[in-house]
Amino acid sequence: MASAAALRKGVGVPATGEFGHVPVLLERCLALLSPALTRHHRDGSGSVLVDATIGAGGHAERFLTELPGLRLIGIDRDPTALDIARTRLTGFADRLTLIHTRYDGIADALPQSGYAATESVDGMLFDLGVSSMQLDRSERGFSYAHDAPLDMRMDPTAALTAAEIVNTYDEAALTDILRRYGEERFARRVAAYITRRRVRTPFTSTGELVEVVYQAVPAPARRTGGHPAKRTFQALRIAVNAELDALRQAMPAALDALATDGRIVVMAYQSLEDRIVKRVFAEATTSSTPPDLPVELPGHGPRFTSLTRGAERAGDVEIRRNPRSAGVRLRALQRVQSGHEAARRGT
Ligand SMILES: C[S@@+](CC[C@H](N)C(=O)[O-])C[C@H]1O[C@@H](n2cnc3c(N)ncnc32)[C@H](O)[C@@H]1O
Repeated sequence: MASAAALRKGVGVPATGEFGHVPVLLERCLALLSPALTRHHRDGSGSVLVDATIGAGGHAERFLTELPGLRLIGIDRDPTALDIARTRLTGFADRLTLIHTRYDGIADALPQSGYAATESVDGMLFDLGVSSMQLDRSERGFSYAHDAPLDMRMDPTAALTAAEIVNTYDEAALTDILRRYGEERFARRVAAYITRRRVRTPFTSTGELVEVVYQAVPAPARRTGGHPAKRTFQALRIAVNAELDALRQAMPAALDALATDGRIVVMAYQSLEDRIVKRVFAEATTSSTPPDLPVELPGHGPRFTSLTRGAERAGDVEIRRNPRSAGVRLRALQRVQSGHEAARRGT
């Protein structure tokens, strides 16, 4: 049977590009967003794309190259990601604005950028989760594959770390986090093992946590469903960074920021995030006219139309080249002129 240490070493790390991250579904994002970004001018002049998770700037670089008139606002909560994006995109500095904030702060950040406001953005891209470069920087503590300080903050200036959660939250709260955000079947057992161990020595490293999770998960379950610590690490990362709350708040604000005919693409890599996106998108594409009425009430038509049928996935070729793309679920919408907007604009 493999030891926890061997499992740590054996975990595959996704292919990385020159800047530590290979952008997922790049051509599809370009195809979906380009019609909205080129509707004023073919080179993207007069259009604004908000990359709400600019990361290593892979998607951003492609859009800025393809559309030489496009203005791009790049957001990330991780200052290191912004430094990498700034370096990578030096050649586009005159068309690029970078903002350090969480994407749920988008409604405030856009007017501050000087280039966008409510109902003025032409394209919006969300590529959720952590980047390969964050996973590969072992000192950030995101990965169960490397021994590192138990941190997991996407924004190192934020207060809450994974160590604080595992060392101070009570057993019930830990169980809830593991069950809710990690969908961990053995949440209660893992939480019990964690609280028992921390009485002797508080956790300081990812390696210590991997060892304890490994002991807590029963042997038969360890052999199936990937690395036994995967779900615990996902759960803690989501809790440390309040990822689901941020997404829940960001989605309506992002939709409101889009101009008529503007488009949004969201890529989620785990089902909890995708469920939130799916729910918000379903509401946005549904009429609020009572279903028993034979005609659409003025101002009650859907504000958005879907550009994708369900969630789109990466193809086999991309998954082979970039295993990180295996989990992606892409959804996209276009804003349409609702009856209400038409009346307001007198069109
Ligand atoms: C998958 S990466 C994006 C990679 C990028 N598309 C590229 O091609 O390089 C996701 C990025 O989103 C950032 N992020 C995650 N949650 C965020 C949030 N709530 N607000 C802002 N940025 C966030 C992470 O710091 C990370 O850099």
